[in-house]
Amino acid sequence: MAGRIFNLCLFCAATSSVMCAVQSGGGSGNTVSDSSSSRGPHFDTAASKNVTALLGKTAYLNCRVKNLANRTMSLQVSWVRHRDVHLLTVGRYTYTSDQRFRAIHQPHSEDWTLQIKYPQHRDSGVYECQVSSTPHLSHFIHLTVIEPDTEIVGGPELFIDRGSTINLTCVVRHSPEPPAYIFWNHNDAIISYSSTRGGVSVATERGETSRSVLLIQKARPSDSGNYQCNPSNARTANVTVHVLNGEHPEAMQHGGNQRMGPSLGALAFISYVLLVYC
Ligand SMILES: *[C@@H]1O[C@H](CO)[C@@H](O)[C@H](O)[C@H]1NC(C)=O
Ligand SMILES: *[C@@H]1O[C@H](CO)[C@@H](O)[C@H](O)[C@H]1NC(C)=O
Ligand SMILES: *[C@@H]1O[C@H](CO)[C@@H](O)[C@H](O)[C@H]1NC(C)=O
Ligand SMILES: *[C@@H]1O[C@H](CO)[C@@H](O)[C@H](O)[C@H]1NC(C)=O
Repeated sequence: MAGRIFNLCLFCAATSSVMCAVQSGGGSGNTVSDSSSSRGPHFDTAASKNVTALLGKTAYLNCRVKNLANRTMSLQVSWVRHRDVHLLTVGRYTYTSDQRFRAIHQPHSEDWTLQIKYPQHRDSGVYECQVSSTPHLSHFIHLTVIEPDTEIVGGPELFIDRGSTINLTCVVRHSPEPPAYIFWNHNDAIISYSSTRGGVSVATERGETSRSVLLIQKARPSDSGNYQCNPSNARTANVTVHVLNGEHPEAMQHGGNQRMGPSLGALAFISYVLLVYC
């Protein structure tokens, strides 16, 4: 970013004037630090923070400007998208033809809010809130659009000794709401907790981050295979479980219910394959 020159010109609808700014460095912060002056307009940065939005869920970027009120006739607050230097809003007027964007401002309020409906990954980036004073003032807000994420701890491959407990933990983050349910598959068949296999249990904890823990006691070779975690409102995740035959010292040396790192696990598995086939 260093050394980047950013040239910005805005057409101000209210005053029919063009305002221009040259910004170098491209970092965040005020172009002119005016917050020391209690008289002039300045940003309330505590109320104008970076935003993390969920994919598809309406996002609000707020810009609070202090001491603007007595000068509203001449000063405008605008929102500019940095990616393409696109002027989105001027005052309460939405400039862009992209209907997902909207300027929100209540009379006598200090808040100038940019509403973004159905945010997409490409909306992530820097947005500038600009006050048309001379020199102009800028505050930069970073929008990050995230989506629900599902992970099985220790995946994508797990090596487990025969006879020990298979402990699979599925973590669901950033889902719009906690998932209504999380179910598990083994080799494409839904795991039934009442099957003749026995010793299978699931504990689910729902919240901002949700967890489902699948425990399978006394692992057997037939428990090997692909396990899939299926949350109701987030993508699935899977792991491949290898139940190692505990007779082999290489596989045994770490004891029961072992979660090895991928390289160590792979090494044990290769040793196992060598012992069996060589
Ligand atoms: C309006 O703001 C200017 C500076 O921005 C200040 O000098 C002036 O006193 C303010 N007027 C009132 C009535 O507050
Ligand atoms: C906003 O996010 C950017 C990029 O992650 C960071 O550099 C900046 O410090 C953040 N600003 C605030 C006020 O947290
Ligand atoms: C299963 O693993 C999780 C960590 O992923 C751990 O917190 C939990 O205690 C384990 N449960 C059992 C019964 O081993
Ligand atoms: C398991 O997950 C991997 C990586 O996310 C994916 O490429 C693969 O298709 C999945 N396999 C199954 C059977 O779901």
